[in-house]
Amino acid sequence: MALPTSIKLFEMAPRDGLQNEPGTLVPTATKIELIERLANAGLTHIEAASFVSPKWVPQMGDATDVMNGIARKPGVVYSALTPNLKGLEGALAAGVEEVAVFGAASEAFSQKNINCSIAESLERFEPVLARANEAGVRVRGYVSCVLGCPYEGDISPQKVAEVAKALFDMGCYEISLGDTIGVGTPLAAKRMIEATRQQVPIEHLAAHFHDTYGMALANLYAVLEEGISVIDAATAGLGGCPYAKGASGNVATEDVLYLLEGLGINTGIDLQAVIDTGYWITNELGRKPSAKVALAKGISRQ
Ligand code: HMG
Ligand code: MG
Repeated sequence: MALPTSIKLFEMAPRDGLQNEPGTLVPTATKIELIERLANAGLTHIEAASFVSPKWVPQMGDATDVMNGIARKPGVVYSALTPNLKGLEGALAAGVEEVAVFGAASEAFSQKNINCSIAESLERFEPVLARANEAGVRVRGYVSCVLGCPYEGDISPQKVAEVAKALFDMGCYEISLGDTIGVGTPLAAKRMIEATRQQVPIEHLAAHFHDTYGMALANLYAVLEEGISVIDAATAGLGGCPYAKGASGNVATEDVLYLLEGLGINTGIDLQAVIDTGYWITNELGRKPSAKVALAKGISRQ
């Protein structure tokens, strides 16, 4: 067992965390403050916004104002989702330095989420990558439903590997593998990584696990053993996908940090500052963090 010696943490709370927030729209100023607090806590990769159709995802409708409003901290990458050229143009105008396209390993989910087949989505991403490349902007690629689909059930590891390879060959520098509905278990997660790493080098793969069934940390530990060294997580365990009914939040950044500290893997991120940020944002949303570590340690008394 050789665990990675360092881990890149990709913070999801401002995008995956808030995109599915029911009820009233989260104010732009709150989103901006969240992003700035996360950067101050030491997070260096923050998915800050999503340039998707506001009719499909109203919570992300202020992406331009969010991106323009944040005080950018040197050394921090603020990225955004861009499903098509229209989204990319908006993101470029707002000065992003990194974007992400998102596909799926499930046909039904692809249709529900982005209104096209997997093959069509890959065709649609080609010009996005070409334009981003021209603008000197890196592109990350997501594959959703890697451990199960809300519409199709089981998904084969080979299908995940195939879509991940297509995104990687197209020029995505990193492929984030999403257990969108959090149904995976450790052995399935390992098998999925073992199939995918044969197509995409392991250092270009990331784990993006939702915690619906409480398995996300166990699954993460399993894939760390496979050599995964990039983890997506959301402070306070915020998150979900509007097109994956019942899916709960991402694995909580607080819980991942505690796990990594226990494994002797230093991230340079201030756990207590993340916990405090989690209490702050969930208070704004009218609830408590779902991160176990945040509940155990509590907010600091500044
Ligand atoms: P469409 O309706 O097929 O696209 O949507 P269209 O090109 O026919 O355009 C229809 C309308 O949308 C037009 O407006 C366009 O201008 C507008 P109208 O003429 O009707 O007024 N439009 C846009 N507006 C703003 N920004 C854009 C944009 N594109 C078109 N970029 C589309 C296709 C992909 C846009 C749509 O299906 C969509 O926005 N889907 C949102 C999907 C989404 O955001 N899902 C959640 C994120 S993915 C996720 O959470 C999973 C992940 O976390 C990993 C995991 O957990 O697995 C990443
Ligand atoms: Mg997600």
